[in-house]
Amino acid sequence: MAHKFDTDKLEKLNDPERKKLLDPDIIWETLKLEDPEILVDIGAGTGFFAVPFSRKMKNGKIYACDVSEEMVSWMKNNLSKEDLEKIVPLKTEESRVDLPDCIADLVYMINVYHELENPQMMLRETYRILKENGRTAVIDWKKEEHSFYSIPGPPLHRRVSKEIIKKELTDSGFDFISDLDILTHHSFIVGVKTLP
Ligand SMILES: C[S@@+](CC[C@H](N)C(=O)[O-])C[C@H]1O[C@@H](n2cnc3c(N)ncnc32)[C@H](O)[C@@H]1O
Repeated sequence: MAHKFDTDKLEKLNDPERKKLLDPDIIWETLKLEDPEILVDIGAGTGFFAVPFSRKMKNGKIYACDVSEEMVSWMKNNLSKEDLEKIVPLKTEESRVDLPDCIADLVYMINVYHELENPQMMLRETYRILKENGRTAVIDWKKEEHSFYSIPGPPLHRRVSKEIIKKELTDSGFDFISDLDILTHHSFIVGVKTLP
């Protein structure tokens, strides 16, 4: 069974220091979304990314999905009323996201891929819920040792290489796989759903 984030350490996810490694503004700008209607955050945790992303959206909505009931309850109880007008916390299953087909402009997973039991089943699920030309973005720890012990992250053996993420996106039906090499310690891989 894949190792899951320890919900007792939930507050760690809200540490503003994380922005030095994963700046939501930089990620948002890189994605170049044009007035998106629906985003789906898989493994949203405490909404560390869903909150800043939702504030950049004019009218859209973000489904902040998590397999952990604690995370979903935390978002419902701690996000502001204004943020919850645009963010919908949603308890999901390991490889099943209970949303309709073809609704999302973007599905993203940040620091989640290495926790998935069956990444390809999840990728096929993200493909199902995306609109035509919608994209799935996978951002996760690079599979490399680093010499700075102050930098957190899962042990090397749990990390997934870029090559595997790209292959699993391709095998799940995604096209135009791009490797956005803009983050020092994270892979940032995007695939597009083009219809056959
Ligand atoms: C390390 S935390 C990252 C949270 C958030 N993305 C962030 O970076 O702040 C990983 C999260 O993914 C969730 N998770 C793990 N497997 C999942 C799955 N199959 N579907 C949805 N959420 C999952 C965990 O419960 C946890 O909240």
